[in-house]
Amino acid sequence: MSSINHLYIHYPFCSSKCNYCGFYSIENHELSNKYLLALENELKYYFNMYKNFEIETIYIGGGNPSLNPENLKEINKIINLFFTLNSIKEYTVECNPLNVTKNFIEILKEISCNRVSLGIQSFTEKTLKYANRLGQTNETVFNALSLLNKEKISISIDLINGLPYADFDKEFYYLEKLLGEFENVNHISLYDLSIDKGSKFYDYKNLKMLSESKKDKYEKQFRKIIDKFGFKRYEVSNYCKKNKMSLHNLGYWKYNNYLGLGPSAHSTIDNLRMENKPELDKYILGIDFTDKYVLNKKQQIEEYLLMGLRLTEGINLNNFFNRFNLDFFTVFKMSLEKNIRLKNLVIKNNYLHTTNRGINFLNSILVDLFDDLDSLVEYGY
Ligand SMILES: C[S@@+](CC[C@H](N)C(=O)[O-])C[C@H]1O[C@@H](n2cnc3c(N)ncnc32)[C@H](O)[C@@H]1O
Ligand code: SF4
Repeated sequence: MSSINHLYIHYPFCSSKCNYCGFYSIENHELSNKYLLALENELKYYFNMYKNFEIETIYIGGGNPSLNPENLKEINKIINLFFTLNSIKEYTVECNPLNVTKNFIEILKEISCNRVSLGIQSFTEKTLKYANRLGQTNETVFNALSLLNKEKISISIDLINGLPYADFDKEFYYLEKLLGEFENVNHISLYDLSIDKGSKFYDYKNLKMLSESKKDKYEKQFRKIIDKFGFKRYEVSNYCKKNKMSLHNLGYWKYNNYLGLGPSAHSTIDNLRMENKPELDKYILGIDFTDKYVLNKKQQIEEYLLMGLRLTEGINLNNFFNRFNLDFFTVFKMSLEKNIRLKNLVIKNNYLHTTNRGINFLNSILVDLFDDLDSLVEYGY
């Protein structure tokens, strides 16, 4: 069994729910102590079950883990009951700008957090209001960043392309200003707005969507600005300065083992997938809150391709062979020929990766690759 190097903890509380967000979180915090007890039990369970932990990255996400600093300290205490954190390379906490205070930063330092992921989403007041992002202004964002930037903490920011009413003049004025002022902002996640089940937007009848052409325009302008500050795209939605990739997320994209704790968190440990239900009540009771299933080889190959081809470096073909004992060129002959001819894919130094053009057609590339895989299964592999 390969080692488990990545630990994710889901903190399922927010002060108010943003209208676009489908991540599992609730606004009532009364159960936070019971959640912490359940978290300790869950970690103890896996700690006793698996002996091969070598935790290198920790990611506390949510929800909003910056909401209650005392809870964050408790989560850190729980982790420390089971792991010595000497070999931790990256320890990320997701933060909301409104919660970043001097006191909060002291706690980040106390727990040895060396990276934050700050949710900004948009710099347009009307957009933030429509999204129910209560209390956030550009002033609160810049205050949070100036406090964080004084510390030795890497800062990643989250933005969303496609939010209704986004005013591009404002979006890019503040993005450029921010990158000019805060050099520790070394990572940006730019997500395309997705209309997820469980979000308020999902139920809106007349959602004011941004047109595709406006979204393209946003992306082009965004690229122009971040280029000037030395950011490079390394994954479909992620950009960073040199050597500042998210090591934790790289673990997912390279299809490494990871343990996810908390309601709605997922884990993959070798061929076992565990999915916690997005239900805090069940999680607290400790009964029937995880679905487990074994991934067959075909599913594993599909997921490996789906995740690996999101990275601009692509997938390592030796690694593929060692992992699945299959020759890539034999299995994927047709889809490779087609997509190399279309200039969607290239093979270089034993890596298969998308081209600048191909990264925009990832879904159709994957359909082609999966078709080849289906034929292999049909012929009795
Ligand atoms: C789980 S949230 C935590 C962020 C933090 N709680 C905050 O609000 O500042 C992580 C990120 O997911 C992204 N996100 C959430 N819902 C999304 C959606 N429907 N479409 C695209 N991105 C979304 C946002 O960029 C958000 O910052
Ligand atoms: S974006 Fe962050 S604060 Fe807003 S609902 Fe989602 S997790 Fe909570």
